[in-house]
Amino acid sequence: MNKAIIVTGGAGFIGANFVLDWLANSDVTVINLDCLTYAGNRENLASLEGDARHIFVQGNIGDSELVRGLFTQYQPCAVVNFAAESHVDRSIHSPEDFIQTNIVGTFRLLEAARIYWGGLSDDDKAAFRFLHVSTDEVYGSLKKDDPAFREDNKYEPNSPYSASKAASDHLVRAYHHTYGLPVLTTNCSNNYGPYHFPEKLIPLLITHALAGKNLPVYGDGQQIRDWLFVVDHCRGIRRVLEAGKVGETYNIGGWNEMANLDIVHTVCDLLDEARPRADGKSYREQITFVTDRPGHDRRYAIDATKIEKDLGWKPQETFQTGIRKTIQWYLDNPEWVANVQSGSYRDWVEKNYAERG
Ligand code: NAD
Ligand code: DAU
Repeated sequence: MNKAIIVTGGAGFIGANFVLDWLANSDVTVINLDCLTYAGNRENLASLEGDARHIFVQGNIGDSELVRGLFTQYQPCAVVNFAAESHVDRSIHSPEDFIQTNIVGTFRLLEAARIYWGGLSDDDKAAFRFLHVSTDEVYGSLKKDDPAFREDNKYEPNSPYSASKAASDHLVRAYHHTYGLPVLTTNCSNNYGPYHFPEKLIPLLITHALAGKNLPVYGDGQQIRDWLFVVDHCRGIRRVLEAGKVGETYNIGGWNEMANLDIVHTVCDLLDEARPRADGKSYREQITFVTDRPGHDRRYAIDATKIEKDLGWKPQETFQTGIRKTIQWYLDNPEWVANVQSGSYRDWVEKNYAERG
């Protein structure tokens, strides 16, 4: 077994941040398997050009032959599975892709890992890890005064996206219970930060504000999410990979619950400071309330006590520091923003928002 890890979905938002963070902290080679959907972007990895520790393979986690070949060729000591369809609104419009990648794809990846792992020596078997990156959305929606999600909360997914992630979590669990595959699962809250594709709330707000477009708030804007700076999530995953107990689940969150409308106001106010509008008015003028997301979960919140107590991880950024870094990154990278706003991105924005009135 080599000092190499397979990272899937490493050209997406969190995956790319993870690869960059990993290689800033380790010389263990990354085999980055990503099929480059609309959300995958090799520009996110441009700073690794010419770095022999990063091997990019364009391919699908559901392509069993390809994936088995990668295991045989690179003899990895771990897999970190980020590859997924990740946007709730898209899962409402087209659930099929979510079933294929998040369920069937994860199953095929697990199967390839199980076959490879079965052929390792006892020492290498014990050292191998399959880390599955999942979401807090599998636990469903909290009421205002409910305690935050713990690892033993029951699964109550409400969207095709969260249902497909829940199914993949169950498969990962079953591969440990039935075959002994050394798995770890992390369930994380909403991430934000550099390289975030502008279909999601925070980057959509920043890019729409700067472009003079409407800032669409679904429903009453009082839905609550628990925001975590993406680099903190990446550090958490590294820590779980290093010291997590095999077969266990770790919730990762920012201890930072905020209503969507407060997020929108914060982004507007920081942009008012950093890049004032030409007419001197606030970006808040661009806020527009639109039709709600069907089945919209009201509140997510993570209780991250277990990872803090057992593994010593806690977030380093507060929302105030993380959101400033994020806004600055978008102001500093207009070319990245322009390049991701391709025809298919514009088609998506048209489709998702036109019908919201
Ligand atoms: P993303 O949509 O930005 O990136 C997904 C990446 O996976 C893309 O690069 C895409 O090309 C790739 N991909 C998709 N299908 C693939 C396939 N079949 N084979 C190979 N590659 C494929 O997603 P993200 O926001 O970076 O999320 C990464 C993971 O973290 C997902 O599993 C998601 O469920 C989970 N997660 C995300 C958040 C969040 O706030 N973004 C929070 C918790 C958990
Ligand atoms: O909780 C973790 C999850 O967070 C991840 O598993 C998902 O992959 C990730 O996309 C994210 O899901 P959300 O649905 O919470 O994120 P999104 O950015 O799409 O929306 C955040 C909130 O903002 C949500 O309540 C819907 C609302 N929203 C979103 C958009 C795109 C708006 O009000 N307006 C918008 O235009």
